[in-house]
Amino acid sequence: MSGLDDEPDAATPLTPEERNGLIPTHVALRRELNELEQQNILAANAWALTRRRDPVAEAFGRNLHRRMFGRVWRWAGAYRSSDKNIGVPHWEVPVRLREALDNTRYWIESKTFPPDEIAVRFHHALVFIHPFPNGNGRWSRLMADLLIIALGGQRFTWGRSPLRDRDDDIRAAYIAALKAADRHDFAPLLGFARS
Ligand SMILES: Nc1ncnc2c1ncn2[C@@H]1O[C@H](COP(=O)(O)OP(=O)(O)OP(=O)(O)O)[C@@H](O)[C@H]1O
Ligand SMILES: [Mg+2]
Repeated sequence: MSGLDDEPDAATPLTPEERNGLIPTHVALRRELNELEQQNILAANAWALTRRRDPVAEAFGRNLHRRMFGRVWRWAGAYRSSDKNIGVPHWEVPVRLREALDNTRYWIESKTFPPDEIAVRFHHALVFIHPFPNGNGRWSRLMADLLIIALGGQRFTWGRSPLRDRDDDIRAAYIAALKAADRHDFAPLLGFARS
């Protein structure tokens, strides 16, 4: 049994400030929190996947995060107001996001890369910025899924998501692939997204 303080190693630790944002009052264990988040995300998936949506729009991204986590966290859909060990300085989030969305739109219009690579680069750019206090991995993977679908491709598998509570090996491969992408080598992340 683990308490809320025992975040898995490879996840962003919650600050006390963020824990204050928990909406359900009865949650004591991480497993209970995971369950509530999972239900919330399933509803958001249904919402996002049943209509044609443009994921390369700032308002949509915030709205999707709110839909994914809004039953659990008060700060769902709101950008970070403090710095994390991952992500750009919090005050850079809006401008870096706008830049990432502009770049992605340009790649789509100019067919700079094949569709999978555009969506995977989009995922990496979003998670590198880390706009939200938590949920950035799940949000940015769903954003990439929505983009590849909009571009006419099949949804990604991400080493068979959901990643949480899964094999440490899968998680390690994912993090290694993100780090390669930080160095502008997107091949591992492209492979991982289809694994
Ligand atoms: N060194 C790293 N360790 C862990 N996550 C990293 C690292 N570098 C980048 N990331 C990304 O950050 C995400 C974790 O951030 P955050 O906790 O905000 O998202 P999450 O949706 O709660 O994560 P999870 O993928 O665990 O469900 C990872 O999914 C991954 O995409
Ligand atoms: Mg997390």
